[in-house]
This record gives sequence, C-alpha cells and structure tokens, in this order.
Amino acid sequence: MQIFTVVAVVVAVCSVHAKVYFREEFLDGGKSRWVDSKHKSDYGEFKLTAGSFYGDAAKDKGLQTSQDARFYATSARFEPFSNEGKSVVFQFTVKHEQKIDCGGGYIKVFPADLDQADMHGESSYYLMFGPDICGYSTKKVHVIFNYKGKNHLIKKEIKCKDDELTHLYTLILNPDQTYEVKIDNEKVESGSLEEDWDFLPPKKIKDPEAKKPEDWDDRAKIDDPEDTKPEDWDKAENIPDPDGEWKPKQKTTPTTKEPGCIQRSTTQSTARRKPALKNVHVKSGTIFDNFAITDDAKEAEEIGNETWGVTKDPELKMKQEQDDVKRKEEEERNKAQESEDADADADADEEEEEEEEEEEDTKDDVEEELSESDEAAKQKDEL
Ligand SMILES: *[C@@H]1O[C@H](CO)[C@@H](O)[C@H](O)[C@H]1NC(C)=O
Repeated sequence: MQIFTVVAVVVAVCSVHAKVYFREEFLDGGKSRWVDSKHKSDYGEFKLTAGSFYGDAAKDKGLQTSQDARFYATSARFEPFSNEGKSVVFQFTVKHEQKIDCGGGYIKVFPADLDQADMHGESSYYLMFGPDICGYSTKKVHVIFNYKGKNHLIKKEIKCKDDELTHLYTLILNPDQTYEVKIDNEKVESGSLEEDWDFLPPKKIKDPEAKKPEDWDDRAKIDDPEDTKPEDWDKAENIPDPDGEWKPKQKTTPTTKEPGCIQRSTTQSTARRKPALKNVHVKSGTIFDNFAITDDAKEAEEIGNETWGVTKDPELKMKQEQDDVKRKEEEERNKAQESEDADADADADEEEEEEEEEEEDTKDDVEEELSESDEAAKQKDEL
C-alpha cells in the first residue's frame, strides 16, 4: 500500500510527461543490474558484446547468448509502477546475427515476488513478448498473457523478422483494452484484447458425441430454469488483470530466455525403416539490447529512434561490407579450386592416354597372338 501511495504521488506530479520505468542499453559497459538464474547449472552464459558487426561498438553492446544448444535466463528489476488509466509499453531489440535456426528471442515480465536466482521456464509471469523462430514453420511474435494462472496466446499470427540484423520489437497496451505490436517502429498488428485473446471461457462448448435426443423439443429457444451465471464468468473490461487493472506490482522483471528446441523428423531410411530423430541445434549469438518500459507510445518510439534508429544503417553497411569480403574470398577460393581441378584433369588426361596406349599394345599383342593361332589353325587345316 505504501508503495502505491508513492507511485500515485509521482504520477500526479509529472502526469504530462512520459514516465520511463526501465531502460537498459548497457552503456556503462557492465551488466551488474542483471541476475543470472542458477536454477539449472547448465544455463548458457550471456556475454556483453556488440557482436561481429554493428552500427556503433559502444551503443550496440547487448546481452549475447554465447553457447550453443542451451537455455538462457537472466533478469533485472525495476521500480514499482501502476498502469491504471495509462498505457504501458514494452520494447527491446533482438539481433540473430548467427542466422538462427531455432530459438526464442522474447522477454517475460514477472510478478515482484520472483526469486531471480531461481527463475526458470515454469516461473509464472504476466507477459511474454517477442520473436520465436524454429525451422521454416515457426517465425512468429509471441504475445502471451497469463490470466488467472493460465497462459493465453494471441490468436493472430504475427510474423517476426528472420534475418541477421537488429530489429526493434514494441508492445503497446492501452487502458481502453486495445493493443499494438510494432516491429522497427512500424505497426504490424493491433486490435482489442478481448477479440484477439480467448480470456473468457467459450460461451458454448460443442460435444462431438452429442446426438439429438428422441424427446427433443424443436422450439428454437426456451428458458433454462436451472441456468446460473458461471462462477468464472468475467466482464471483459478488466482483462488481463483480475483485480481490475493490469499492473506489474512492486518490482517486475524482464528476462530473456532462449528455449532449446527439438524438431522431429520421421524420415524413414529404406534400409532400416527406423524413424530418425533429428535435433536442431540452437545456435548461439543472439543479442538483446535497448530495453525500455514506459507509459507513453511516443516516448517509446523516440527511444527506438535514438537507439535502433541511429545504429541500424551503419550496422547494415558493416554487414554488407563483411558479406562482400566473404563473397570475394569465396570466389577466389573457387577460382583456385577450379585451376587446381583443371591441373588435376590435365594430369588425369595424360594418364588416360598412356593407359589407352598400353591397352592398344595389349590389343595388338592379342591380335598378333590370334593371327598367329589363326595361322596355326590354317596350317593345321592345311595339314
Ligand atoms: C521516429 O523516426 C521516424 C523516421 O525518421 C519519424 O518519422 C518519426 O516521427 C520519429 N518518431 C519520433 C517520436 O520522434
């Protein structure tokens, strides 16, 4: 309660200004605010780096996954805030510079009582947001709310970026129960929470086994005298918070977590007829940066412009230059290989010719022999 009073006062004083609850760009060079989970001893390690190409070596430093095929979990706390009657915006950048084949690039927002050192995949959260890629089939942006202990996925398919560059992901939740998802500061999806998530229990559940009973009354509608309002019936206005407002209480925690992923393929080898199980390795190298939580969509857009917006073009330039160098090296390697092959071919030709000559020699010998024996036969005949 005390905490609420403090927040309310702060809000009253600067209600005209945007409030930034959390910002992390790793500009001071450290990640001391971040607590790595020790829930499992084999969680992968995040290192702080701008990666192998970047727009600015200092500004583009972020948390990078550094070991293949691992889970990752780290978190940072921020001051309590309430979003009652206000928007709340979650934003961060993700860069899969390693050409990711399978792995998540999302954040989670947790309740204040989370034990950061023990955070894991089953820790309950308020929100999960961000891109998820696995193979060719999964390339989407998750927006998952936990409501009354159950996770609710967005019903719309939002495609995420799957290239190697840094991209800005933004989720805006408004007090009128509308939302907007932006990628690279452009709207990719929007709508109402009520329509795009199934927070409410379905009004009717079809029983696939049901048959029309023989004493069925064909009148279209009659009142059910036994009908009562279901206990878990909810008014839509209060979604997703059961208490009437959506508030990451006291201290919440964004985390980044990269799940391992097993893709099954049931390829049958004709020889053995055994289903093969194929593990798709999660390649490390993803960089998370430019975290921001604010109550103002314009402010978030401006932060996006000042961070991702400033470094995206030079980043692309450096990437293209590196690609050019790689392409040239490749071409030269190919050329060298070709001339080597050509030399080898020439040698092989010579050898072939020699062999042919040898063969001809043998043929001649045989023919000679044959003709000799022919002659012998002739002689025999003549005898
Ligand atoms: C962000 O940058 C875009 C592109 O330059 C610009 O159109 C937009 O007005 C900027 N937004 C803010 C809030 O400054």
